[in-house]
Amino acid sequence: MSVDVGGIVVHLEHLTAEKQAVLVEQVRRIVRAAPLFRPEMPSGRKMSVRMTSAGTFGWTSDRAGYRYERQHPNGMDWPPMPPIALDIWRDVAGVARDPQSCLINFYDGDAKMGLHQDRDEADMEMPVVSISLGDEALFRVGGAKRGGKTQSIWLKSGDVAVMGGAARLNYHGIDRIRANSSTLLPNGGRINLTLRCVD
Ligand code: SIN
Ligand code: FE2
Repeated sequence: MSVDVGGIVVHLEHLTAEKQAVLVEQVRRIVRAAPLFRPEMPSGRKMSVRMTSAGTFGWTSDRAGYRYERQHPNGMDWPPMPPIALDIWRDVAGVARDPQSCLINFYDGDAKMGLHQDRDEADMEMPVVSISLGDEALFRVGGAKRGGKTQSIWLKSGDVAVMGGAARLNYHGIDRIRANSSTLLPNGGRINLTLRCVD
C-alpha cells in the first residue's frame, strides 16, 4: 500500500523483515569500510545525524558548503551501492537511470534533520528514493517554498518514500525519532538510505 504525503509517495512496508535484515548487513559492511562521520554544516554547527555513503558519489558538508564528493573524507573511494537498495530503486523510481549515490544516515534517539530541499543534484527529473530501517521517525513534508503548510507521517522500518515530479523539491525533514520502536538494530537507532542521481 502507498500513501501520498504532500506529493511524496510513501510505500508502506515495502520491505519484508528478511529483506530489511539483509539490507542492514549490506549497510554494516559499507560502514566498516567507510566509517560514519558527523559533518559540519556551512554554519559550523555539527549535524546530529552521522553519515557515510556508497556509490560513485557521496554527499557531504562542511564550512565550504553542501556537495557531492567522489571520496570519503579519509580519502578512499566510496564502497559500492548496497545491492538491495539498487533493487528498490529499480522497483519504485520509474526512471531508466540507476542512482549514483546512496547516502547512509544514522540517527540515534536524539538526532533530527531540519527542513531542507534536496537540490545539490543536476537533474531534477530524477527522483529521490529514501529507505527507512530501524526506529520510527517523524517525517515532515512541506511544499517547494519555505514556510508553507506541512504534513507529517511516522516512517517505519521497511517504508520507502519517493520524492519525484512536482514534489522533487519539497521541503522535508525529520523532527524526531521514537527510540526503541523497532528491534531491527540491536542497539537501536534508525538508518535512512537516500538514493539519488547526481550529475
Ligand atoms: C533526508 O532528507 O536527508 C533524510 C530523510 C530521512 O531520514 O528520512
Ligand atoms: Fe533530504
